[in-house]
Amino acid sequence: MTLKPIDLLLSNANKVVSGNKGVYEGFSIAIDSGKIKAIGPASEIAGLFHPREELDATGKLIPPGFVDSHTHVIFGGQRAGEFVQRCSGADYEQIAAAGGGIRASVRMTRDTDLDTLVSDALPRIQRMMASGSTTIEIKSGYGLDLETELKMLRAIAILAKDCPAEIVPTFMGAHETPDEWREDRSRYIKMVCEEMIPAVASEGLAEFCDVFCERGVFNPEESQAVLEAGIAHGLKPKIHADEMAASGGSLVAAQVGAISADHLMMTPPEGIAALKEAGVVATLLPGTTFFLSKPTYAPARKMIDAGLDVALATDRNPGSCTIESMLFIMGLAVQRMNMTPLEALEAATLGGAKALGRSEICGSIDVEKRADLILWDAPDEDFLIYEFTNDLSRTVWAGGNRISGPPVHS
Ligand code: NIG
Ligand code: FE
Repeated sequence: MTLKPIDLLLSNANKVVSGNKGVYEGFSIAIDSGKIKAIGPASEIAGLFHPREELDATGKLIPPGFVDSHTHVIFGGQRAGEFVQRCSGADYEQIAAAGGGIRASVRMTRDTDLDTLVSDALPRIQRMMASGSTTIEIKSGYGLDLETELKMLRAIAILAKDCPAEIVPTFMGAHETPDEWREDRSRYIKMVCEEMIPAVASEGLAEFCDVFCERGVFNPEESQAVLEAGIAHGLKPKIHADEMAASGGSLVAAQVGAISADHLMMTPPEGIAALKEAGVVATLLPGTTFFLSKPTYAPARKMIDAGLDVALATDRNPGSCTIESMLFIMGLAVQRMNMTPLEALEAATLGGAKALGRSEICGSIDVEKRADLILWDAPDEDFLIYEFTNDLSRTVWAGGNRISGPPVHS
């Protein structure tokens, strides 16, 4: 029998952990033309393929690439000063109410040109990819006027063009009310719905529309209006919900049929029930809880036990979380939210893919899915989590292309 030529064979992994809880020992993975072509016991796969390149994965762990489904990685300037202030007792919401927080990043982003937004974001995205993220969602929302929101979304499109990871754009004009509309928030919401959303949609610059439904930011009625305007223009709804307080965001998510509700630190039982009933993915961002030194993590166990689909993401942004590593986020999920290592791995891969409507394309190691993979210098998921604070050696493939890893010796 002739052996089928393929691009790459990862052979005899100690463990292959797929996003859908499949756990295989001594398996090999065949990759060709950017896709997974076969997965099976090492001896079986060896008899089928002739690889152009083969890597011995003996003793190692192979999960899918991470799907980081919630980031704000494009912004002008930085807010290190606020972080230090918070460390000596200042409060995130008080800083925001005094004109800092998101509005500080808005002023800096308006003052930053397109090329600089792109060149500032690039190293962040490169670090994310090196740490294993192969799909990355990015939101606008530090412009809060049409011109700057479009500038941010164009920066995302430029970065997406040559990026080996898949970049997914989200419009978030309703991230905050900008300085110039503080006295007339309803007029700002009207602008988001009637001017920004149609412009963004007509240029095809975003796939999702997000809103910050929160005490002191946008209320449930305003949030619903924004998401419905997005839906009317083909933008799928996402929502920042119940981050600082139970603000009704999870109920809005259920009401509009959002693909995901994110944060959910303070979600009450009726919010969990509503998300379950409506099939909304619960995207948990424990890095934000950690970075803001908040005492209460999202009730992950209650959500998993209620049967919700859970995703984990970084929320990388200039103010409330600078963490870029999905492994670090998984470590927090296990240590602070009582998730198991396998649950955390599934949430960081297939969960994220579901939160981005991409579970047929990525997020698990299945035949014909994109070859987004990480070869970890770890025997299993318990060891991986145990080392979550460290820069564990790994090789990352996105769409079958090796995008990061130690030097290859031939
Ligand atoms: O997801 N919650 C709203 N937006 C971001 C914070 C943005 C910022 O502080 O700049 C978040 O945490
Ligand atoms: Fe966010």
